[in-house]
Amino acid sequence: MTDQQERSTTRRAATMDKVVALAKRRGFVFPGSEIYGGLANTWDYGPLGVELKNNIKQLWWKTFVQTRRDMLGLDAGILMHPRVWEASGHVVNFNDPLVDCKTCKARFRADDLVERHLHIADASAKTPDELSALIREANLPCPNCGNRTLTDARQFNMMFQTTIGPVSETGTQVYLRPETAQGIFVQYKNILNSQRVKLPFGIGQIGKAFRNEITPGNFIFRVLELEQMEIEYFVKAAESATAFEEWLTAMRGWIELIGLRPEHIRVREHAKEELSHYSMRTCDFEYLFPGPMGWKELYGLANRTDFDLRSHQEASGEDLTYFEQETKTRFLPHVVEPTFGVERTFLTVLLDAYDEEATTDVNGKAETRTVLRFVPRLAPVKAAVLPLAKKPELTSVAWQLFERLQCEVSPQVDYDEQANIGKRYRRQDEIGTPFCVTVDFDTLEDRAVTIRDRDTMSQVRIPLDDVPAYLSERIR
Ligand code: GAP
Repeated sequence: MTDQQERSTTRRAATMDKVVALAKRRGFVFPGSEIYGGLANTWDYGPLGVELKNNIKQLWWKTFVQTRRDMLGLDAGILMHPRVWEASGHVVNFNDPLVDCKTCKARFRADDLVERHLHIADASAKTPDELSALIREANLPCPNCGNRTLTDARQFNMMFQTTIGPVSETGTQVYLRPETAQGIFVQYKNILNSQRVKLPFGIGQIGKAFRNEITPGNFIFRVLELEQMEIEYFVKAAESATAFEEWLTAMRGWIELIGLRPEHIRVREHAKEELSHYSMRTCDFEYLFPGPMGWKELYGLANRTDFDLRSHQEASGEDLTYFEQETKTRFLPHVVEPTFGVERTFLTVLLDAYDEEATTDVNGKAETRTVLRFVPRLAPVKAAVLPLAKKPELTSVAWQLFERLQCEVSPQVDYDEQANIGKRYRRQDEIGTPFCVTVDFDTLEDRAVTIRDRDTMSQVRIPLDDVPAYLSERIR
């Protein structure tokens, strides 16, 4: 089946344009520095976006660090000694193949040009020479000005540099970390010495990383300032293949937990020539993005062998070996690395949650309902309390219930008394609130409320006192 055929068999309402518009309209994601005309590929997370992002990160931390006996956490700095990046291979190897237009000076990623304009899949697996040959053979015009004056592809290092110290000429040149992983390798010995851990064990970290990317847009798919959730899992060399398989399964479990649709996920094994400089085996979890984007990397899983610990041991002169009591031997552990991008998780969760449904309004008029069908544990608002009318006898009961739900169920509960009830339901559907709790005039008599389910729009009548337990059960 071709990519195109696979795409057409999947019913999906989401397009990138619709999701970008909703994200802005409802306060999930805003373009960065917008009042100054924007800064390309920078985005800010609004009131709902920051809640969704935090939910993703907290769920990841709980799943992979807090509830596993073989995992520990770390929060290392963004700035590290510049020699870290020499030892890790990033100074020499962390490059993107770039092509310039000699006429208009626009700059493009060569693999992106080849994928978009020559319709060749997986061009990121090709070398700069192969990409240059393809572009030359096709006599590809510049997508910006149309002249056939594109250069050959050249490697361009993607690390951002900055200076420590007041004067740029005399200060120390450092890099903003391009991956969180190296913080883990550099602190591995301290963790080993300060915690009672035995192989196999892993260290998990969530944090910012920076990459000087040339990007073709695609919203938050490829950004300059990103967040990664990474694990370095230390094992004996002979056990790394098994650990790799176990992490493949654990990553599939995570994808299910956050509600991504199985038909939008595939696992792609890297060909030998595509492997990063540190990896002996890599699998990408790819996601089927709507429109021309198609299949693109969501997460990665790599067998980094002992490359990083060995390189840091050689470059720093520190002994990074592990001593195994049982066999009285010393060796460098091998590392399996599952890596997850926060932005790509956020984007794919939004895309898969987005739905449109033909329905009728309160007057029976046909309309389209836009709804974000988040799994409840990720929803930025878990429940909304809505008094049917803005009358003190209703709002006081509703406000008391709201405060109780914030304490007993989740702080992510909303209270809304503005506009008619139909409009309030639509707003909550559009931000993905799983439950709306309506306090009406009958509540004053029967001490019960109506709970509306976002997905089915069905309603149940529940005693006021039972609402926290009812919601807690469904949100978890
Ligand atoms: N430590 C290994 C590593 O950094 P990577 O494949 O370069 O591997 C890991 O990045 C993950 O980080 C990717 O699978 C993706 O989810 C995310 N990622 C990488 N570059 C990104 C970018 N420019 N914008 C958003 N997310 C990015």
